[in-house]
Amino acid sequence: MNSAERFLQDFHQRRPGTTPPAFAGLSLPGRGSSYDMLVATLTTDQSHAQILDLGCGDGFLLDLLARKYPEAKLTGVDMSTTELAAARARLADRGLLLHERAQSLSLATGSVGAVVSHLALMLMSDIDQVLGEVHRVLATGGQLSAIVGRSFLLGELGQQYLQVFRAAARRDQLPPLPLVDPRTQSQSGWRDLLSTNFTALQFEELDLAWTPTFEELWDSLGETYDLDRLTPANRALMKNELHSATQPLLQADGTLLTGWGLLLIQAKAA
Ligand SMILES: C[S@@+](CC[C@H](N)C(=O)[O-])C[C@H]1O[C@@H](n2cnc3c(N)ncnc32)[C@H](O)[C@@H]1O
Repeated sequence: MNSAERFLQDFHQRRPGTTPPAFAGLSLPGRGSSYDMLVATLTTDQSHAQILDLGCGDGFLLDLLARKYPEAKLTGVDMSTTELAAARARLADRGLLLHERAQSLSLATGSVGAVVSHLALMLMSDIDQVLGEVHRVLATGGQLSAIVGRSFLLGELGQQYLQVFRAAARRDQLPPLPLVDPRTQSQSGWRDLLSTNFTALQFEELDLAWTPTFEELWDSLGETYDLDRLTPANRALMKNELHSATQPLLQADGTLLTGWGLLLIQAKAA
């Protein structure tokens, strides 16, 4: 396990359940949230199959799947035991929850009909190994559906955030946190990663609008990997700086216009 993965594991151990509050409320007209969009990629063929949620967190997506596909055999994998405990509380006895790394799954070869993953795949170190495991556990023709991150805080707000965060990171002399493999940052990179073992690749860029007040923005940023690494005093200073930097961007109703850029990936196991 490298240092980036250790950081992720520690973060999710300390702070389970941070992702659904940030994303469950954002939606596209007629499509629902990014979680709903993943559920919608599955077909009734998969309704009795084993469905694996990779990096399932606190089980928000598994819960939606359990409601839509009560006959499916649901399995969640996560490397954080506190995320899994939250998932257990949410799901009660629906679904099997496994404390495992995605790089080394205990599931039998060819046993899974569909793998879903929400905002987790792009964080995983040794992504080649992870996708090798996804391919191994999927039956031939099985579905992979993943929502991955594309851009953090869309628009001018994102530029302002980056400037202010970089200054704060310098003040704390934070070492870079190489959480992502550069290939997970573009469609062509994902195509390279997937084309050996998967066919019928489909990509859809999704921009989910978000109009928080400054305090809502700051609360949500407080749950991110970036801010978690700053000292409390530096975080307080950063809040003041971001507040000043975002004043010119406030809309008439006192909110800020931004959003999240996500990518929906669909593929079939070759
Ligand atoms: C940003 S959270 C998303 C959680 C959930 N999918 C959601 O969207 O609500 C990423 C999750 O992936 C898990 N994770 C990251 N790398 C992993 C790995 N290599 N193996 C298993 N789980 C991993 C983390 O523990 C965390 O729960």
